[in-house]
Amino acid sequence: MLVRAAQPDDATRACDVLRRSISQLCALDHRNDEAFLSSWLSNKTPDNVRSWIEKSHMFVAEENVQILGVAALDHSGFVTLNYVAPEARFRGVSKALLQAVEQKAMELGIGMSRLQSTKTAERFYRAAGYRERSGLPEGTLGKMLK
Ligand SMILES: CC(C)(COP(=O)(O)OP(=O)(O)OC[C@H]1O[C@@H](n2cnc3c(N)ncnc32)[C@H](O)[C@@H]1OP(=O)(O)O)[C@@H](O)C(=O)NCCC(=O)NCCS
Repeated sequence: MLVRAAQPDDATRACDVLRRSISQLCALDHRNDEAFLSSWLSNKTPDNVRSWIEKSHMFVAEENVQILGVAALDHSGFVTLNYVAPEARFRGVSKALLQAVEQKAMELGIGMSRLQSTKTAERFYRAAGYRERSGLPEGTLGKMLK
């Protein structure tokens, strides 16, 4: 598996991973409520993903030209996306992507990465060091970066 910076040409395949990850893995969050799920998916379009690739720091995990996962960091150190393809779950994809966005945050001189976790991923993020921290809004978890 290779983790690399996303390119605009990745947008359609990355978008497909985002949509399948949300639909198939995040049932704890959307509870199969069609209206809720469709609102969550509504901005996950190839055009939007292309613009996120251009405007943020997005990474993909790739193996044999298949995209296995997608993560992104904004310029303030907020992890805006971290989604694994259902068929690649529990193979270290999200861990590797989280390390890539944290490394990028450190390169940007950011001292704390932040995110809002799904219920689905909360255990994963807590194991990775994310916690409630003073000064963060309710629902936001942070991790001090070295
Ligand atoms: C839970 C999830 C994030 C784990 O990512 P992954 O790429 O499948 O798995 P990884 O191999 O990278 O990480 C494994 C870690 O996940 C955690 N984990 C294991 N089983 C888990 C479970 N059933 N639920 C939640 N976390 C779990 C553990 O910390 C594990 O680490 P360990 O192997 O050292 O014990 C992923 O499977 C998932 O459901 N993603 C859905 C999309 C999502 O919610 N993204 C977050 C947006 S904020």
